[in-house]
Amino acid sequence: MNPDLLSLLRCPRCRGTLATVGDPPEALRCASCEGGRYPIVAGIPRLTEDPYAGSFGRQWNRYDVMREEEDEATFEVKTGMPAASLAGKLVLDAGCGGGRYSRLVGSRGARVLGVDLSSAVEKARALCSGLPGVLIAQADLLDLAVADESFDAAFSIGVMHHTPDPRRAFAQVARKVKRGGRLAVWLYRRNTPPQEWINSGLRAVSTRLPARLLEPICAATGVLGGVPVVNRTLNKLANFSAHPDWTLRVCDNFDWYAPRYQSHHTVAELKSWFAEEGFEDLAELAPAKAGPAYDWAYRHDLIIGSGVNVAGTKR
Ligand SMILES: C[S@@+](CC[C@H](N)C(=O)[O-])C[C@H]1O[C@@H](n2cnc3c(N)ncnc32)[C@H](O)[C@@H]1O
Repeated sequence: MNPDLLSLLRCPRCRGTLATVGDPPEALRCASCEGGRYPIVAGIPRLTEDPYAGSFGRQWNRYDVMREEEDEATFEVKTGMPAASLAGKLVLDAGCGGGRYSRLVGSRGARVLGVDLSSAVEKARALCSGLPGVLIAQADLLDLAVADESFDAAFSIGVMHHTPDPRRAFAQVARKVKRGGRLAVWLYRRNTPPQEWINSGLRAVSTRLPARLLEPICAATGVLGGVPVVNRTLNKLANFSAHPDWTLRVCDNFDWYAPRYQSHHTVAELKSWFAEEGFEDLAELAPAKAGPAYDWAYRHDLIIGSGVNVAGTKR
């Protein structure tokens, strides 16, 4: 475990610094408070338990979604930063999931702290195992026990809208970026009211289904997603993935219909969060897909599952 990255973790109770216990390290102990002791299990510091994100643990450990070329292109589109431009920088992956972007950025020479609430950290750690410059920790963005004002860059791709308080998660992550550092955030876009009503109705049912029932449904909609004429039309009413890769389609569908929390946002809202937390030089990042029909539908908030995506620099 990288000691420099480990030294960025803080006691979730009192924000004291943490010292390792044992050799090899089996826990972190707070230097300041009684009882601040956090296990290191399977090479992962565990600063929190997971109160609500179990579906993500299941999905990221089950589906192998890393696709190097695609991940690199997606990362650049969703952060405005080519992975290679982060070489030598200290980077926070806020909500790393199964670790595809931590791995990408780490493999391009950045030092990366990837944090996530769920047992997805186990997949992330496995994916990043050959990269000594990457540390994966189980931690909660809503109370992020990491040194403030430390990171040259931070990104959070598809995460904050899965917390019960996205605004708070944003503020917590924003505090970790140093002055002059860059933060990029991607959140689900708020669609038109009829689309939002249909989605709320579907998710009111799907989030109550056990995973063993929901997964075959996600596989069935994965079949629909492979039929172009269907996915170009039905997809405007209810979300299902049209990714060309079957595994990603099923995983995307589960990712949409299983999580307990899912909120949708506007660009104005996300920009106001950046401004309120002291960021400037804001850029609204455009999606990769192009073409007049897609652009028109995107601008009219008709693309379900598309994002609002902003990056900014801390003053
Ligand atoms: C859709 S996944 C995105 C993962 C990754 N950024 C990616 O794009 O591959 C959302 C992730 O947010 C994590 N998450 C949800 N609430 C969180 C919280 N409060 N703190 C940290 N991670 C959280 C989930 O465990 C899940 O892995």
